[in-house]
Amino acid sequence: MDADVVAGPPGPPWSRTAARDDRGVVTVGGVAVDALAGAHGTPLLVVDGDDLRARCRAFVAAFGPDAVVYASKAWCTTAVLQVVAEEGLLVDVASGGELATALAAGVDPARLVLHGNAKSAAELDRALEVGVGRIVVDAMEELELLDGLARARGVRAPVLLRITPGIDAHTHAYVRTGHDDAKFGFTLSLGLADAALARALDLDGLELRGVHAHVGSQVVDPDAFVANAEVLVDLLARWRAEHDLELDDLDLGGGMGVAYAAGDPEPDVAALGAAVRAAVADRAAAHGLPLPRVLVEPGRAIVGPSALTLYRTVAVKDLPGLSRWVAVDGGMGDNIRPALYGAAHAVTLAGRAPVGPAGPVMLVGKHCESGDVLATGAPLPGDVAAGDLVAVATTGAYTESMASNYNRLPRPAAVLVEDGTVRPILRRETEEDLLRRDVPLP
Ligand code: LLP
Repeated sequence: MDADVVAGPPGPPWSRTAARDDRGVVTVGGVAVDALAGAHGTPLLVVDGDDLRARCRAFVAAFGPDAVVYASKAWCTTAVLQVVAEEGLLVDVASGGELATALAAGVDPARLVLHGNAKSAAELDRALEVGVGRIVVDAMEELELLDGLARARGVRAPVLLRITPGIDAHTHAYVRTGHDDAKFGFTLSLGLADAALARALDLDGLELRGVHAHVGSQVVDPDAFVANAEVLVDLLARWRAEHDLELDDLDLGGGMGVAYAAGDPEPDVAALGAAVRAAVADRAAAHGLPLPRVLVEPGRAIVGPSALTLYRTVAVKDLPGLSRWVAVDGGMGDNIRPALYGAAHAVTLAGRAPVGPAGPVMLVGKHCESGDVLATGAPLPGDVAAGDLVAVATTGAYTESMASNYNRLPRPAAVLVEDGTVRPILRRETEEDLLRRDVPLP
């Protein structure tokens, strides 16, 4: 094989065990993807279990035990939550459905963190019923609602206040959250965080445990996390001075970026952990504040690079002087990220060695709209043809969790591959599943 014409794997952004066998076929965990596609069909999410576990361990090593909370919105499926919980991570859930999945995965409710800017009474009450360890309150109405629910149950709700810290992390506008004019949290600069604290201290049903702030997602600059930590430690120090109040938890949210394309820098988790912990320790010492317990909530950086999506090509159209269009058997229904955020996922021919050099193609899906593009300028060889397997990298985070049934396409299956063992973790949706909610008119 000519290395110049084969765009990965191995190497980032592909997962740790992704390689090619001597036929040129991509392998994950020692299993060739043509065998996976044959046994499980396509589109198929293939999770590299070694990679997933290594990512969990790197975060625990960098931030400490009981400091890492997996943001399950990235990919909330029972088996993924089982793996991360087994690796010692806590789990962040942001809806009743994510909470139900975490409970189904056997996660200890005390190790759950409940998020959401518009939680329902039912979601909050369920959290109290099962004993969720931390509830991150996002609005004044929620303080009142939670207080009432907790008092009705005769318990005190463990609360973190979500602070909007006024930090503008440089990332896509849709995933930016820490700047002042945002839908999340109590805006610090406008005095809303202070108002929330004053109210929370008045409510007997609440037990205030700490503060939380999340600056955004796919953030590659460590300074944004350090700045967030400093703002929150300063806040804890001021609140201690003003209210004689000691709060333990300093939850810095998630958002740690990952590599999507070959050559993207892989953010260094160990260095990030060291920088954040040092900043917290220095700032706390400067204020004479006891060292707070730092929590972080990575989602993408835990599961994103661990999976690829395998598609089968269906049609190739060469438009002379224009583009080459390669259509596959999935698309924006199973990966909305390119269409929604302009995300650029790496692509490779996966089921065989290519013949000839790779040229840029438009990799598109099967949905009935022109915006259904999976990759622009994907490096596929001149001989790519119907029936080939194509892999798209870094699809563990925010693909399956954001999948839709647009055009009534069933959502893909997923397998977890570890040391040559393949375990189905999500069965392919069927047309029967799709019709299950329909209520025909008489
Ligand atoms: N904690 C909170 C409070 C969050 O809102 C989020 C993400 C996370 C943690 C995890 O962030 P992560 O480490 O995964 O970046 N769908 C978008 C990403 C939306 C992120 C929303 N909140 C995407 O596909 O890029």
